Amino acid sequence: MVAESVLAAHAAPVELAWRVGATEVPLLSAVGVPGYPGIDPALPALAEALARGRLQPPLSSFVDFTGGPGAVLGLGHALSGVRGSMLAVSAAVRRTALELGVDEAACRADHPWDLPAASVDEVWWRPASERGWARFGAELAGWSRALTAQGRLIAVWHKDQGARRAERLVAERFETLEVVNRASGWRVVEARGPRAETPGPWLSWDGPDGPMRTLVGTFAADRLDAGSALLLEALSAYETGGREARSEASADLAGARVLDLGCGSGVLARRALRAGAASVLALDDDLAAVRSSEATLAGEGKARVDWSDLTLDAPEARELDVVITNPPFHVGRSVVGALSRGFVAAAHTALRPGGRLWLVANAALPFDRLLASWQSVREVTPAGARAYRVFTALRAKSSRRTS
Ligand SMILES: C[S@@+](CC[C@H](N)C(=O)[O-])C[C@H]1O[C@@H](n2cnc3c(N)ncnc32)[C@H](O)[C@@H]1O
Repeated sequence: MVAESVLAAHAAPVELAWRVGATEVPLLSAVGVPGYPGIDPALPALAEALARGRLQPPLSSFVDFTGGPGAVLGLGHALSGVRGSMLAVSAAVRRTALELGVDEAACRADHPWDLPAASVDEVWWRPASERGWARFGAELAGWSRALTAQGRLIAVWHKDQGARRAERLVAERFETLEVVNRASGWRVVEARGPRAETPGPWLSWDGPDGPMRTLVGTFAADRLDAGSALLLEALSAYETGGREARSEASADLAGARVLDLGCGSGVLARRALRAGAASVLALDDDLAAVRSSEATLAGEGKARVDWSDLTLDAPEARELDVVITNPPFHVGRSVVGALSRGFVAAAHTALRPGGRLWLVANAALPFDRLLASWQSVREVTPAGARAYRVFTALRAKSSRRTS
C-alpha cells in the first residue's frame, strides 16, 4: 500500500452520533480516538444516566475531559446552548475535534493540573485507566484544585477497571460522592465539594543515559520499557560493531537527521543525540509524552519535540536519514491494527530514499510482513529475547510502496 494513502486513511474521520434520550449529538472518530471505529462505550453509560434524570446536563463553565473529540461539549450546546471547553491530550483527538467544529480556543492542550485554581464549575471525566493509578491520582488532584468550592465532578468508569478504588480515591478528595447510575458494568459518579491538594504529576528516575523526568501516565513513565531496552542494545551493537555490522548501512546515527516516532519519555531520542545525531525530531500524539520528552531533552541541543500524530505535521518530518521507533498497538485498552501500518507508512514518508528504520515490536505483530517492500530488512533482535523483535531496514530508493 502507498504510504500516503495509509496516512490519509489514518486521519480520515468516521461520522458517528451519540444518542442522549431524544437528542442526537454529532460526533467524529478516527484512528487514535478512544472507541474507534465506533463510539467510546463510556458515552452510552453517561447517556443513560442523563436520560433517566440521574444526572443534570452540563451547566456553566464546564470542562469536557471524556477523552474524545468533545461529546459533552456537543451535548451542552445541543441541550442548553451552554459552552464549555475540552482538554485534548492527544493530537489525533484534537485534530478530530477541530474537524467536528469545536472552536480552537475551546480545545485546550492542557492537562488537569495545568488549569488555574478554582477556575471551573464542572468537570466531565472519563479517566484513561490504562495510564495507571499515578496518573489517575494526578488528574484527580488537578480537578480538586481547578474546581470551585461548589464545583461538581462527573466521572464514568467500568467495574472491571478499578471502579471501587477510583471511588475510594475520589471520596478522599471530595466532600460527597454518589454513584448516580449503574449499567452494563459502567458506573457514573457525581462528586461535590473538592478539597484542594496538589501532589505533583512529575516522576524522576534513572534512565539509561542519565536522569529522566516524566509525567505520570506517559508510556513507561518510571522505567525503561523492555522493548526499548532491546532496541537500544541493538543500536549499540550496530554503532560499535564495526564494518561488518554496518556493511549494509547508508545512514547511522552519527551525523544523521533522526526522527523518534512515538517518542514517549524521549529515551530513544536522547540516545540518538548522544550517538552524535545532527538533529532529532521527537514526535508523539500524547501531550504528556511531549512534555516529558521536552524535559528529557532540555539542554541536549539539536532536538525538537512536536505534538503530532502520524500526519507528520512538522515541516522537517520528511527526508530524514533515520527513524527510530517502538510503535504502539493500543489506543486505550483496544488493540488497533491500523497503528502498525500507520507507523510503517509514517516512517516511510519521513525517510529519504535509502534512509534507515530501526523498529522494535512485540514478537506477535506482523512487522516482517509490513516491511516486505523495504530493502535490506534484517532482524537484529539481541540473543535470548523472545517477547520482542528488533528490525532494521532501508527505505527503497525507487518505490513509494510500504508493503
Ligand atoms: C510503545 S511507546 C514508545 C515510547 C518511547 N519511544 C519508548 O521507547 O519508551 C509508543 C508511543 O507512541 C505514541 N503514539 C501512539 N499513537 C500515536 C500516533 N498515532 N502518533 C504518534 N505517536 C503515537 C504513544 O503515545 C507512545 O508514547
